[in-house]
Amino acid sequence: MRIAIVGTGYVGLTTGACFANLGNDVICVDNNESKIEKLLNGNMPFYEPGLDELVKLNVKEKRLSFSTDIKEAVAQCEVIFICVNTPPKENGEADLSFVETVSESIANNMNEYRLIVEKSTVPVETGVWVQKTIEANLNGRVEFDVASNPEFLREGSAIHDFMNPDRVVIGVESERAEKILKELYKPLSAHIVVTDIRSAEIIKHASNSFLASKISFINVISRICAQVGADVTQVAEGIGLDRRIGKDFLKPGIGFGGFCFPKDLSAFVRIGEKLGVNMDMLRAVGDVNEAQKLYFKKMIEDHLWNLKNKTVGVLGISFKADTDDIRFAPAIDLIEMLIEEGVTIQAFDPQAMDNARTVLKDIVYATDPYEAAKDAEALVIMTDWSEFKQIDLLKIKSLMKRPLIFDGRNIYSPEKMKELGFQYLSIGRKPVNVEALKTKY
Ligand code: UGA
Repeated sequence: MRIAIVGTGYVGLTTGACFANLGNDVICVDNNESKIEKLLNGNMPFYEPGLDELVKLNVKEKRLSFSTDIKEAVAQCEVIFICVNTPPKENGEADLSFVETVSESIANNMNEYRLIVEKSTVPVETGVWVQKTIEANLNGRVEFDVASNPEFLREGSAIHDFMNPDRVVIGVESERAEKILKELYKPLSAHIVVTDIRSAEIIKHASNSFLASKISFINVISRICAQVGADVTQVAEGIGLDRRIGKDFLKPGIGFGGFCFPKDLSAFVRIGEKLGVNMDMLRAVGDVNEAQKLYFKKMIEDHLWNLKNKTVGVLGISFKADTDDIRFAPAIDLIEMLIEEGVTIQAFDPQAMDNARTVLKDIVYATDPYEAAKDAEALVIMTDWSEFKQIDLLKIKSLMKRPLIFDGRNIYSPEKMKELGFQYLSIGRKPVNVEALKTKY
């Protein structure tokens, strides 16, 4: 099938490369000329494991191409996926102006049947607006369908998630659209859930909100565990083995980040409020997430005493492992809070430092974890990169001014840290080699 993907961000580029790899002819379009130039020169605009190779392979096999010309893409492709950015507005709502502009361009350039599929995360009823916009901008009578096909790809494992989906959701309102999308996904042999367009749009927001709720839930439980000296890892295992609950997304930490959960949650809250639905529950999920960062910062402060002029090493800046994405990364907020208190930050991240340099100007960027730890009075783990799990902790200890680690992702075992002689504080587990304070962590 000939497919156009409009928008070459994390979702668009991965989706385009994966569809090409399944044997389709894919044109990825973006109005950002330098991004397309980069892709044409074989360079990736962001880091996603395996994507570089997949893109190069499919370009070589002539199944994947890049262009800034939406006109040509619409003229050539029967199926057009809208994968443009839907950034948050001040009030939490999604800004849909890019979706509107793209819908207009598609309408202006369509001269035979086209299936327009929303893949960007959008509020319910965006499909109706896309339909209306296309109708209003069509030159003459051209048949078309609009569909919703939300994505459930995680950054860092996006290709695996695309190729092995738990389900594929297609929101359609015509048999023709359903047939085309089923055909497109056939090679994946996935469970396909066919719904109306509005339900598909809600499935996306509800999925992300539910997963975010699980994280805030376990973060609240971790606070209770800390107060009574219980172990949240054991609690998470004990509840997660109940299949009705499930063990995934019960890892406590410094809160969820990224360009999906925080913004999708706020957008969903706004949608509910506009519809007159009480959204207290999901608002609380966001509030717990914000509080979790403050809680972690207080933990650091309580054990370092005065923060001013202290040097703190930070391992991890990206919002999660295996990505260079720092959008809404809890590490960024925490680093900014610590800088505000007069702390000197020495940070290291395996992939995200180029992006971090654009927002965090006043920190020292270390070349490896050891340089970040050198002469530091504390080391803070903010992202669960697997390479941090493998570091030489004795070397780290010998380099630090004081062997104090705050682990915001629970990547080390307290027993091991005790053995190595660290003062070690993590989330919802007993502190190691740390004097009892009034507040327990
Ligand atoms: C999320 C969803 O998992 C995808 O299904 C969805 O397609 C995507 O958003 C999207 O809407 O585009 P992503 O944001 O890439 O994917 O990453 P996740 O793995 O979901 O992690 C989100 C945040 O939650 C990260 O900051 C992560 O560290 C945190 N997290 C995750 C926890 O704190 N605990 C957990 O147990 C799991």
